[in-house]
Amino acid sequence: MRVLVIGSGGREHALCWALAASPMLEKLWCAPGNPGIAAHAELVPVPVTDVAALVAFARDHAVDLVVPGPEAPLVAGLADALKEAGIRCFGPSAAAAQLEGSKTFTKEVADAAGIPTARWERFEEAEEARAFVRLRGAPIVVKADGLAAGKGVVVAATVEEAEAAITAMLEDGSLGAAGASVVIEECLIGEEASLFALCDGEHALLLGGAQDHKRVGEGDTGPNTGGMGAYTPTPFLTAEAADAAMKRIVMPALAEMVRRGTPFRGVLFAGLMLTSDGPQLIEFNVRFGDPECQALLPRLKSDLLAALLAACDGELGAFDLRWSDDATVAVVVAAKGYPGTPEPSGPIGGLDEAAAVPGALVFHAGTTRRGDEIHPAGGRVLTVVGRGPDIQTARDVAYRAVAALRWPEGFFRRDIGWRALRSA
Ligand code: AMP
Ligand code: GLY
Repeated sequence: MRVLVIGSGGREHALCWALAASPMLEKLWCAPGNPGIAAHAELVPVPVTDVAALVAFARDHAVDLVVPGPEAPLVAGLADALKEAGIRCFGPSAAAAQLEGSKTFTKEVADAAGIPTARWERFEEAEEARAFVRLRGAPIVVKADGLAAGKGVVVAATVEEAEAAITAMLEDGSLGAAGASVVIEECLIGEEASLFALCDGEHALLLGGAQDHKRVGEGDTGPNTGGMGAYTPTPFLTAEAADAAMKRIVMPALAEMVRRGTPFRGVLFAGLMLTSDGPQLIEFNVRFGDPECQALLPRLKSDLLAALLAACDGELGAFDLRWSDDATVAVVVAAKGYPGTPEPSGPIGGLDEAAAVPGALVFHAGTTRRGDEIHPAGGRVLTVVGRGPDIQTARDVAYRAVAALRWPEGFFRRDIGWRALRSA
């Protein structure tokens, strides 16, 4: 199999690492990739949203399967263009990628399919939205309708905070077109978990659950980020809760997408709130989470490439996945300043020493090579994963590996997995 992975983060490094281990793999490329990925794949200097150039590359190099990491190329129609070119794409059409691209769309699908989710209303007029918030009271959640790079959600503890978010999005245009309409929804209470399902349009296979750490600061404080760490499995997503989420959330969503004539293929990432009434859907994403992917894939014993092909070919009904009983803890090492502008920085040392810690894996995210040196090139720079028989051991491995790094301009959270360890 000749495979092209798209993206340049820690998630794509983990995907390339897992695909490189497949006995079915003949050749692996990654566009644009990063210096860590270069150990497994040939890098292709094409940006992730240049759909025409990606399709041309895949055609010219007889690629059998394209695996997009981020959502942007999917929302831009990469899967549709590849289908026209007769090339498999492990990811949804632009129409099905609306499950991530538009909050209103997701809410409409959820309501049509009877999926448990927070009650909601959509507004374009600020005054109407503010009046609704005053009527409902706080806590309440205000969301920009479009893609806003993780900045579009305000969980407001007070009515004033909710009103300010509405004014900023609808009147001041703080998020541009993404905030031209807002969804206001009831605030759900519980533990959050990310659930991943491999989907072939009709069938879904549980890939497992993880818990992300979205806030930049320890104890889940400070601004939201793309994710500062994740661990898996999470004790909060019990086998029973995962089963309920597959039956009441994932399967009904797939059936509704089929009914609409836009079946969903790829990874369906359900952001869940585990409430006292069972799992409720917060949001869908149409891809692997980052850093959840880096935590999940090291536990997969089955051939990832075979699984992705089965999803593309509608053959998941007869497919099974094997998982290790190990736990993993993934720690994101970021550049000081993140999630704002990263501070200037020197090179990163100790990468080989970190990777040599038994049970540790070092995935590159925002890095670039300058001669023999690896320099940071972004906010989230590395994901260091520890494996072990339980979360505490996996976490010790991850932090031992992080401690081997020599990079004074970097920082990381020291408490990844704290909710699980506190509840144990
Ligand atoms: P999202 O961008 O939709 O993932 O939302 C970001 C974060 O906001 C989620 O991870 C939750 O922590 C929180 N959130 C979103 N919707 C709700 C809700 N209805 N109730 C409580 N928290 C929410
Ligand atoms: N870590 C959450 C995400 O990838 O969206």
